[in-house]
Amino acid sequence: MRNHDELHGTRGEDGVLEYRLTAREARVRVGDRDAHLLTYDGSFPGPTLRAREGDRVRIVFENALSERTNLHFHGMRMPTEVDDPHRVVCPGERTTYEFDIPAGAAGTYWYHPHLHGEVAWQLGAGLVGAMVVHGPIDDAVLGDADEQVLVLHDLSLAGDRPRPRSVLEMHDGREGELVLVHGDDARTIHAKGGLLRLRLVNGSTARFFDVAVDGAETALIGLDSNLLEAPVPIESVLLPPGQRADVLVRADRAGVLLLRERPYDRGVVRLPGMAPTPRPADGILATIVVHGDAEVRFPERMGAVERIDPGSAVRTRRLEYGGEGNTLRFLYEALRGTQYGPGQGARGPVRFAIDGRSFDPHRIDFDVELGTTEIWEIANPTPLDHPFHLHIHGFQLIDVDGEPAPFVAWRDVVNVPRGKTVRIAVPFRDHPGTTMFHCHIVEHEDNGMMGHVRVVDPSAPRVRAPREACR
Ligand code: C2O
Ligand code: CU
Ligand code: CU
Repeated sequence: MRNHDELHGTRGEDGVLEYRLTAREARVRVGDRDAHLLTYDGSFPGPTLRAREGDRVRIVFENALSERTNLHFHGMRMPTEVDDPHRVVCPGERTTYEFDIPAGAAGTYWYHPHLHGEVAWQLGAGLVGAMVVHGPIDDAVLGDADEQVLVLHDLSLAGDRPRPRSVLEMHDGREGELVLVHGDDARTIHAKGGLLRLRLVNGSTARFFDVAVDGAETALIGLDSNLLEAPVPIESVLLPPGQRADVLVRADRAGVLLLRERPYDRGVVRLPGMAPTPRPADGILATIVVHGDAEVRFPERMGAVERIDPGSAVRTRRLEYGGEGNTLRFLYEALRGTQYGPGQGARGPVRFAIDGRSFDPHRIDFDVELGTTEIWEIANPTPLDHPFHLHIHGFQLIDVDGEPAPFVAWRDVVNVPRGKTVRIAVPFRDHPGTTMFHCHIVEHEDNGMMGHVRVVDPSAPRVRAPREACR
């Protein structure tokens, strides 16, 4: 039993799996109300795209919005010319994203806009979708499992439209009052009984989800775009924005299970008299109805995961999160009730920074050499958690404040808790050229917490100057 909103590509004569995707405004049903959102193909979240390892995929993307946008395939390893976040798709324009899905890429991905300064607005207004890549490992180990792709997202509406952000939301990142599991605030998931695989995608702009399943044994089997070596029993799994978790539930008895969200303190500012972060009622995200009994066990192993030896790194690079606000402006705008909507997403009251520098689309922050591995030490002396994301090049967590990673996994997002330092090992094996790293609280990304890394190879394309205007 899968989601109904899947988009199956068509296989062209050239063997390429082609999808057509249109960004447009649409009225959609969200829980028990109607909302006028920015959508992919008129649905919220957008259609789940499915492909297989070894496929060549072509996404013909049309922008039918009245604002500029673009597409980013989060977690996908692809050439920097294709994953070029500086690309601008003007209203009425059509463009193509075409890339190969390599062997070993089976996993959960997602797509969203990446237009600098507009990401929080557009993602927060509904432009989000999942992409699933299947591989032989899925058939071999998890072929019988029921599967659900669940995009977690929150919306904040004024009337039936996405609400612009307040000053404080530009600082903390916005957590909307409608907490949604795949577009629904009271979703019922049906499972036949047996193993149930939940591919969770945190596609919200700033909300962290600490997710648990009540009533059955639960294990983490994958993180971001890859499976782990073996199931790891969990009580809950914390997903900062951008992260995916592949969760296996032993649903072996007919009955009802609850998908729950637990409170997590990421350090947001609380002023006296301010409402607390909105949460779903009783912390319940969704209800899982298991229709039958089935004797099942978790697989013992999924497959080997290569471990990157930190000793092979050619250098350690330190990156430090920071930010600088203008307190007077902050207070003035807070009192005036200033709102940040489309076109204003990069004008927040705080300049967020990495290593004391706010993002500059024309600056390469540093070079790394193709074929080498580096250790990146990401320090967070700020009062907020900041999830770190790197495009194209997967990495492995080494430790958090000296506490070693509990298992080997390829990731593209890691939370850097406030006051802590995280070390990751990043091999730069292919795809030379310039790409980006940033905090995945997208309000922070829009306001400067982002940088460019150039993977140097003599034939690498240079970063293109961003196109500013549309005719
Ligand atoms: Cu999910 Cu740079 O993005
Ligand atoms: Cu990304
Ligand atoms: Cu951040």
